[in-house]
Amino acid sequence: MAAKLSPRAQSSLIWGLYVVGLLPAAWTFWLGASGELGADPVKTFERFLGLWTIRFLILTLAVTPLRDLDLFNGLRYRRALGLLAFYYAAMHLTTYWVLDQALDLSAVWADIVKRPFITFGMMAFTLLVPLAVTSNAASIRRLGSRWSTLHKLIYPAAALGALHYSMATKVLGVEQYIHIGLLVLLLAYRLVRPRVMEAKKARRKMAAVQR
Ligand code: HEM
Repeated sequence: MAAKLSPRAQSSLIWGLYVVGLLPAAWTFWLGASGELGADPVKTFERFLGLWTIRFLILTLAVTPLRDLDLFNGLRYRRALGLLAFYYAAMHLTTYWVLDQALDLSAVWADIVKRPFITFGMMAFTLLVPLAVTSNAASIRRLGSRWSTLHKLIYPAAALGALHYSMATKVLGVEQYIHIGLLVLLLAYRLVRPRVMEAKKARRKMAAVQR
């Protein structure tokens, strides 16, 4: 059985997760600022932030199956993981807008309209915004059962993010297959989840009868 942590220890772990989660961005920004990010530091930084958005989306989506399969209960970390995905997406978009497109809003708009991979990226980001805004306790209380319905937007957001990623990459390699494969697997799990939960309930009932 998992050890029970005090509320204080839990909150320290969550804050630690935010700090550790933001370290890759801070470290890579530092490398870029000190001229150690290769020939095209802006592109490298932009891609790096996109990649970590995908990674945090994967970790956020992995919480439910790991809990369902009794492998790890990370429910208390899910909000931080989801917010980290949003922060990375926001930094990715900001890098693209400020450093790549030199704050030229009309160039950004032209890109969104003309280049399908940017359109999908923007759609994914737009879907993440209401999730980030309502990720607090007050919104959960205010929205009641509508909160869970709203937060299902994570699924189309992740699917659009995966599509954007596969289209942004010129050549798909092992890294892309692993990231996209994991996202597809985690999204597909939602389709079979009702059956997994039914089987789990039946197993528990059986165990209770045998006791
Ligand atoms: C949830 C939202 C998003 C995710 C998960 C995401 C993810 C990624 C990833 C992983 C890459 C790297 C592809 C590679 O390895 O080359 C990438 C590239 C890129 N993304 Fe996003 N992205 C998102 C949203 C956006 C948005 C909103 C924009 C701009 C409006 C954007 C613009 C770009 C651009 C321009 C590149 C290509 C950089 C290059 O030229 O190589 N992305 N994105």
